[in-house]
Amino acid sequence: MSRNLLGIRHISAEDLRDLLALGTEFKRRVLQREPLPRVREETVGLLFFEDSTRTRVSFEQAAKYLGMNTVSFTGRGSSMSKGESLKDTILTLRHERLTTVVMRHRMPGSAQLAARYFPGPVLNAGDGEHEHPAQALGDALTILERKGHLDGLIVAIVGDVEHSRVARSNAWLLSKLGAEVRFVGPKTMLPSHTAMLPGSVHYTLETGIHNADVVMCLRLQKERMLDGLLSSVGEYARMYQVTRQSLEYASPDCLVMHPGPLNRGIELDDDAADGDCSVINDQVENGIFVRMAAYWWALDRTMDDLKKVAA
Ligand code: NCD
Repeated sequence: MSRNLLGIRHISAEDLRDLLALGTEFKRRVLQREPLPRVREETVGLLFFEDSTRTRVSFEQAAKYLGMNTVSFTGRGSSMSKGESLKDTILTLRHERLTTVVMRHRMPGSAQLAARYFPGPVLNAGDGEHEHPAQALGDALTILERKGHLDGLIVAIVGDVEHSRVARSNAWLLSKLGAEVRFVGPKTMLPSHTAMLPGSVHYTLETGIHNADVVMCLRLQKERMLDGLLSSVGEYARMYQVTRQSLEYASPDCLVMHPGPLNRGIELDDDAADGDCSVINDQVENGIFVRMAAYWWALDRTMDDLKKVAA
């Protein structure tokens, strides 16, 4: 049996806790150079139809730590440019004997589509504006490490929520595990269906990050934006840029996060991005360990199975 990681919305709080516990244990083992399981029979297809740095590298790193084979596929230079559909591409890769698929694609729901035609685990590495589950797991692990818990924390997600799969997956995950989520930004960038998302809406940075334990900035997704949502990037920066000064509204030991890639001087200034509160580099590193957890979980293996891999 295997399972898919398509989105956080439909994963139970219990499974999320298991995934985070696995991520913590994989991190401990990697950092202490303790033995790791070797899943040699698996061949992971890394299918990136959209650009990526962190997500692609960390899924590949995670697979290598677990002894899996990897095959990379970007769509460019493939038969997709000759008009082959996503369905036929997935069917072809299945018969190339891939056993697990990691996929990023600009179409919301594409991971679900892939799961329909692929028999092994499908891990969503970002489907359009929809979900980015492994990113949210890495972010949650980062918060957990620093704060010791998620329940009761105030997490302000600032910026382009409308176009952000990171915001959606984080909102589901953090609220399922007991945090209070706030969406902060200009009206045009907060989803028109906020009622569907768990969180309150704030139009000013001052009220939105008031007493926040975590301020999570989002990249302005220029590639997904239709003109007219912002009067100017400069105006956005003046109103919503997170700086040392604006962080005074937040809790004194507040964490500053950003999934990357960062537009320095727009979402964050240098002080906030590189200052003591910033955990942006931890987010990147933890991304590897939660992806190890995601592979392990998707292959239906448990913490007990991991513990059997002797020290
Ligand atoms: C994000 C993505 O691609 O969804 N980046 C990432 O995976 N770390 C966020 C973004 O592109 O803004």
